[in-house]
Amino acid sequence: MFSDKLNKAPEGFTFDDFLLVPSISNIEPKDVDTRSRVSRSYSLNIPIVSSAMDTVSEGEMAIALAQEGGLGVIHRNMTIKEQVAEVEKVKRSEDLTIRDVITTSPESSIREANALMDIEDVSGLPVVENEKIIGIISRRDIQPIINSDAHRNVREFMTEEVVTISESTTPEEALDIAYDNKVERLPVVQNNRIVGIVTIRDILECKKHPHAVRDKDGRFLVAAATGPFDLERAIALDNAGADIIAMDVAHAHKPSIIESAKKMKENIQADLLVGNIATGEAAEAIISGADVDGLKVGIGPGSICTTRIIAGVGVPQLTAISSVADVARDHGVPVIADGGLRYSGDVAKAIAVGADSVMLGSLLAGTTESPGDVVIMNGRKFKQYRGMGSLGAMTGGSGAGTDRYFQEVKGPMKHAKLVPEGVEGVVPFKGPANEVIFQLMGGLKASMGYCGAINIKEMWEKSRFVRITSSGMTESHPHDLMITNESPNYPTTRLM
Ligand code: XMP
Repeated sequence: MFSDKLNKAPEGFTFDDFLLVPSISNIEPKDVDTRSRVSRSYSLNIPIVSSAMDTVSEGEMAIALAQEGGLGVIHRNMTIKEQVAEVEKVKRSEDLTIRDVITTSPESSIREANALMDIEDVSGLPVVENEKIIGIISRRDIQPIINSDAHRNVREFMTEEVVTISESTTPEEALDIAYDNKVERLPVVQNNRIVGIVTIRDILECKKHPHAVRDKDGRFLVAAATGPFDLERAIALDNAGADIIAMDVAHAHKPSIIESAKKMKENIQADLLVGNIATGEAAEAIISGADVDGLKVGIGPGSICTTRIIAGVGVPQLTAISSVADVARDHGVPVIADGGLRYSGDVAKAIAVGADSVMLGSLLAGTTESPGDVVIMNGRKFKQYRGMGSLGAMTGGSGAGTDRYFQEVKGPMKHAKLVPEGVEGVVPFKGPANEVIFQLMGGLKASMGYCGAINIKEMWEKSRFVRITSSGMTESHPHDLMITNESPNYPTTRLM
C-alpha cells in the first residue's frame, strides 16, 4: 500500500527538537574528561574533527586542531601530490630540528652575513669551514659593528665556542643546555658536521600545547580524505604518514563502496573511516562487509547542503546519529556526527545520542586557519565557505566533489552538466580556530556538568532528553531585547 509509506513512516528528529534535561550532579565543568575515540586505534582529547572541505581543512587547520587535542581531515579537492604535501606539513610541523640550515663561511664579510640573515629571516648563522662547524655569528654580534666594520670577516667576530647537541638530545635536555649556556640556538652535529639547528623559541612553542594529540613518534595526528574508489590516493596518503584515511562519499551504503572499503583497508596501515550514512542498516552493512575503523553520519544536515532539497533525501541528524550509534556501539566502532552543528549545545546533543566525536564545517570555516582570504563586505569581515557538491567545488581543484556525488563530466561546458548538491557563500571571519574550539568545549563541558556526566561514556549513559515544540525553541533563544554586545559563542548575525 502506497499510503502505508506515509502512515507507517517513522518520525525523524534533529537538534532543535530536543533539549537535554538537567540531572542531579556533583560534576563541575572544569573536572570533566572530554577524551573520546575517533577511530578504533585513535583517541582525541577533545571530540572535534574538521570537515574534509576545501574551505575548511588543509594543513594549517589540521595543525591547529591537533594542538588543541582534535583532528583535521585534509580535503581531497587537490592533486594527490598536493594532499600528500599537506599531510607532511602537519607531520613535520613540530620537528624541532630545522634541517635546511643556512650557514655562512668564516671568510664572508659582516655585510654579507647581515644581508643573508635579512633575506632568510634568521637571527644567527653557524659558520662552516671544510664542512665542519667552527663558530656561530648572531645579529647581536653584528649590530655594534655593522656600520663601522661591515667589510671585515665573520671569522673575527664569531663566537668560536659553539654549544652543540646531537640527534638523540631530547627537547627537555636541549632546553637545559640552552639555558645553562645562555644561547638561543643549538646546532645539531653528527660526526662534526652540522645536520640541523634547534631554537629555544621552537621548543617553548611546542610546550604550549599540553593537550595536543600525537602519533607514536610524537608527531601531530592527522587524517586525510580520499574518494570512494581512489586506492592510489589512499595508499599515497598512508605512505605520507596520515594516521586515518576518511573515505569521503555522499552515500556510502552501496555494495560497490563496501567492496572498495574492504580493499582499501587491506592495503593501508592507517585506520579507515567510511561515510556518510544515516541509518542503522547502512551501519550494519558496512561493518559486516568491511573491517572499518569508524563511521561518519550525516546525509544532508550540513549548512551548505542542498541534498535534502535537490534529491528529497536525508534523515534528520539526531535520529541518524542515534540509529547508527545503536548498531556501531555493539561492534565497538566509533561514530562521527558530521554536519548541521551550529552551537556548542548541538555538540553535546550529538554526543548524548551516541556520537564519539563531531565533524564541523561551518563552525570552523571563517577561522584564520581555514583556506582562503578574508573579504570585507559592508564593513564586516568574511571568508568563503562552500559545499563540496557546489558548482564551484566540483569544477575547481581536482573536482573531488564530482565523485563524492557520483557525477562524471567530460569535455567543455562542465557547469551545465553538473547537478549541484551544495551552495557557495561566506561566513563571518572568526579569528583563530583555538578560540572557537575553546567556546565549543566550554559549552560541552557545561552541558556535561548539567547532565552529571564526568566523561563521554557517562554522557551516553546518563543524559536524558525532553522533546520540545517550536515555542520551546523560541523560548530557548534570547528574546525580547535587542542584543548590543555580541557574544563569542552566540553570533547575532544569523546569515540565513
Ligand atoms: P556543516 O553544517 O558543519 O556541515 O557546515 C559540514 C558537512 O556537510 C557535508 N557537505 C555537504 N553535503 N552537499 C551536501 O549535501 C555539499 O555540497 C556538501 N559539502 C559538504 C560534509 O559532510 C561536511 O562535513
